Amino acid sequence: MKPFNTITTLDEFTIQQTRLFPKATGGLSGILRDIGIACKLINKKVNKAGLVGILGARGTENVQGEEQMKLDVYADDIMIRVLKSSADCAGIASEENDDFVAFDDEYSKNAKYVVLFDPLDGSSNIDVNASIGTIFAIYRRESELGTAVQESDFLQNGSKLMAAGYVIYGSSTMMVYGTKGGVNGFTLDPSIGEFCLSHPDMMVPEDGKIYSVNQGNTEKYTDGLKNYLQHCMRNDDTKKSYTHRYIGSMVADMHRTLIKGGIFFYPADSANENGKLRLQYECNPMSFLVEHAGGLSSDGEKSVLKIEPTELHQRVPIFIGSKNMVTELLSYL
Ligand code: AHG
Repeated sequence: MKPFNTITTLDEFTIQQTRLFPKATGGLSGILRDIGIACKLINKKVNKAGLVGILGARGTENVQGEEQMKLDVYADDIMIRVLKSSADCAGIASEENDDFVAFDDEYSKNAKYVVLFDPLDGSSNIDVNASIGTIFAIYRRESELGTAVQESDFLQNGSKLMAAGYVIYGSSTMMVYGTKGGVNGFTLDPSIGEFCLSHPDMMVPEDGKIYSVNQGNTEKYTDGLKNYLQHCMRNDDTKKSYTHRYIGSMVADMHRTLIKGGIFFYPADSANENGKLRLQYECNPMSFLVEHAGGLSSDGEKSVLKIEPTELHQRVPIFIGSKNMVTELLSYL
């Protein structure tokens, strides 16, 4: 007979993981639980965005001069409020805000972790009902416990991440998070309101066929990249046939890459010398996940995780996905 409880919730899973490390205090599990709660609240709003007058632009710009959507601002607010009342988070930095926020109550000052996030990535897709997501990155703070967190706590390189992941608001809502121990996916079961383990030990296939890039920018790319795209489009019978897929929502494009294999890239081009995507909120967390699932990430020269951040809202070029596809692309650069 099947055991009664065949599901493993996110909370149960993180607690089981904590037990593997006798010295762990459970702080990381606490943060993951809190992010899960915030994302369930965001999910609720995303699901009925068309009904509650929350679609569309807000008429403001974020620190990077990008138009803010109403849902971006709502999601940012929820993440900050939930993490501020978390027992384990000492401060946050968000793609939507100019500066980091140090939580200044006595309790938070003694918390060990800081969280960086993009509250609603791919927000230009909100109004057309395509998948969007929340991306998060968790570091152990370097500043002294008992004091307010410093900017340097948020400028650690990606190899120092303790955990990172995303929640995709798609045909089903999923959280995928990784630690140095591996990457696991949890699907939200709306009937019980819990993220349940559905994709244990996720691995990026070593090879793939799908390349994912905004090909409309080709004229602005280097010759090496143009040649790579020509190679992908050639599709003569003697070569592997490639397929192009691009949603324009990094979480959705990366979720497919993680599951089916392939390559996603947002390179530097003649108009944007550092590309478009943000190191601390998008590229590092995705690179951490992909590398711990057996894939590769690169800024064209080295692993994204080896880039030393110099500012909070830094942009970097990124090439990420299946090991063989990233290696092949890099040979064209
Ligand atoms: P935004 O959140 O402003 O919609 O940006 C989305 C990001 C990322 O998710 C996506 O991969 C990329 O920007 C798409 O940019 P292009 O429209 O330039 O292709």
